[in-house]
Amino acid sequence: MTRRVRTAVLISGRGSNMMALLAAARADDYPADIQLVISNRPEADGLRKADAAGVTAIAIDHKDFDTREAFERELDAALRAHKIDFVACAGFMRVLTEWFVSRWEGRLINIHPSLLPKYKGLHTHKRAIEAGDAEGGASVHWVATEVDGGDIIDHEAVQIEADETPESLANKVLKRELVLYPRALNKVLMGWH
Ligand code: GRF
Repeated sequence: MTRRVRTAVLISGRGSNMMALLAAARADDYPADIQLVISNRPEADGLRKADAAGVTAIAIDHKDFDTREAFERELDAALRAHKIDFVACAGFMRVLTEWFVSRWEGRLINIHPSLLPKYKGLHTHKRAIEAGDAEGGASVHWVATEVDGGDIIDHEAVQIEADETPESLANKVLKRELVLYPRALNKVLMGWH
């Protein structure tokens, strides 16, 4: 196969999607080589999980910077220092500026816990239940300057039951996210150069 793409995963918390990507990337024929995990929160559990899995895991605390762009310049510098070619956001809870998005455009994807274009932003599961939707889900999409607004790459749907709570729906959707994200990254990177 062609050269595996040097990929970074950006996280802010528990890192279960990141771990699913790492597990998939253990296969020799998976097109991503995950070289780096970065969290904007030093206390993120995912950093310890990535480190235990043998991946370089670093914190860049957004609170150490005066502006969004100053934080992103540090992020960008770390990605370049590690010769990263592709970035997957996985539970990364920072809104990215136009500066960063345009710098990484076409090389930057995200997973969002709703069936986009429905429910961009926060509290997606609660909003889906309150709207009486029959289905919830998650989407992997290209990152564009509109938050959660780029083209959709792939999605997974689950049924919303009559007694569904935001927590039960989040748990069901997360299980599908762990299948969806490795599949979507694979799809994007096959034939990507
Ligand atoms: C996931 O539900 C993801 O869709 C959302 O934040 C959650 C992150 O979970 N953006 P984890 O850090 O991957 O465990």
